[in-house]
Amino acid sequence: MLEINLKERLDDFWVFPKLTKIQHSRDYNDNFFEFLNNSEVMNVPTNLYIHIPFCDSGCIFCPYYKLHGQTNYKKYLSKYVDSIIFEIKKYAEQPLLKNIKIESVHFGGGNPFLIPLSDLKRIVETIKSCFNVEVNDNWTMEGSINLIRDEAYPRGLLELGINRISFGVQTFNEEIRNAMNIKATIEDIYNGVEILNKAGLSEYCIDMMYNLPNQSVEDFIEDLKKVTELNPYHIDIYNMAVFPNTYLDKLVQTKGHFRINPSNENQMKMFREGDRWLLENGYKQIITNTYSKKQKEIHIGDKVYLENGNVIGIGVSARGYINGYAYKNVCDIRDYLELIENNNFPADLAYHCTLDQHYDRRMVYFPILMEINKCDIPDYSRYEERINQLIERKLVKWVGDTLKLTKEGIFWSGNISALFISEERWATYIKSFLVAAKEKINPYNEDMMGKEVVDLEE
Ligand SMILES: C[S@@+](CC[C@H](N)C(=O)[O-])C[C@H]1O[C@@H](n2cnc3c(N)ncnc32)[C@H](O)[C@@H]1O
Ligand code: SF4
Repeated sequence: MLEINLKERLDDFWVFPKLTKIQHSRDYNDNFFEFLNNSEVMNVPTNLYIHIPFCDSGCIFCPYYKLHGQTNYKKYLSKYVDSIIFEIKKYAEQPLLKNIKIESVHFGGGNPFLIPLSDLKRIVETIKSCFNVEVNDNWTMEGSINLIRDEAYPRGLLELGINRISFGVQTFNEEIRNAMNIKATIEDIYNGVEILNKAGLSEYCIDMMYNLPNQSVEDFIEDLKKVTELNPYHIDIYNMAVFPNTYLDKLVQTKGHFRINPSNENQMKMFREGDRWLLENGYKQIITNTYSKKQKEIHIGDKVYLENGNVIGIGVSARGYINGYAYKNVCDIRDYLELIENNNFPADLAYHCTLDQHYDRRMVYFPILMEINKCDIPDYSRYEERINQLIERKLVKWVGDTLKLTKEGIFWSGNISALFISEERWATYIKSFLVAAKEKINPYNEDMMGKEVVDLEE
């Protein structure tokens, strides 16, 4: 893959290296995690990611690991909270991670707003007691706005130090919202935002999607107009990826089901138009898919991650990366709880990157940041030919010592990332897709995601 391919616009790569069951499954009794016994001081900036798998919505495009329904929630909530607390402590007591500084904490999901404040307090206190960490604006949480029903919850988040949240609006188009089975109503969005403002939690960020089924370019621009009226801290725009073997995929494959099917052509048009509209209306592009009028620079959590920092991934399906050691936690809550009960690291996939692969990770992520300083390019000679190719194609240019993506380069940022993925790593992606196709599983987590949509309430 040494020639950039500009046939199809690729999404940004936020996961590298890709771990897959066929190549990276581990035996729970192996010695993979022994690297944590090293007691040298670790100076690599490190984030903490905690996955909360409960969700009360059933958006059919969503590939993330989550559990629907009250029964699951009641059955697992308390045990799950205990288990993630156990897992945090387990990492924190390893010699390599003892007292390390944590730069940012993110609660992702699923829908973390489903965690009661009392449980959240226990988790936050555990993190504070385990690591050298400050509670400041580097603590973030994502969730669904329909769960913001009174001021008590956002006030509670602020008291715990979580003062930036994000939630998905996706679109204001009712027809599309219904077709995508999004639970939050338009009324929930406006009510929720009003409550957040009253509670003083003003740093709310909003996710929007483009290339949704039946969505036109005009619809997307209309959505952007409406979302800006909500005065968000920033807006993330996501091209809708149709993950194979999900319920959505089935509908897209059914001829005539949608008036407009997601396509590469549509997403390219929509990104160009949406980007133009946002920039013309006073928004600044912070990273490739984040625009803001208020935020001055990239969030520290993204900066650490995209500049090849570490992430300690906690909870079912979470991904971690510590000093070149990549792991992915098991994607089934029952297995997760059992592994924790047996005092195992609950990762079923693991891989120790070579130094070249570790360097490649920096290069795969830099296009999302839209620039990289020459002194931050590890082993320049390894990438020189590819960088020159990008310069020739006017996708990047040197501005002083900084290699910057051009406007066209930003458009093709995912394809630029792909150029820095080695052939042997590509083979892993392809293998994982083939296995997923054969086993009819979703390649994102290699699980059965999407089937649950039919039994939202058990
Ligand atoms: C991981 S979800 C979790 C947060 C929360 N439950 C919510 O819905 O906002 C975060 C965002 O991922 C985006 N997303 C979900 N499925 C996607 C897909 N198939 N393609 C692109 N973006 C997607 C949505 O914009 C969503 O708001
Ligand atoms: S995108 Fe929808 S289904 Fe996925 S986690 Fe968010 S609310 Fe739940």
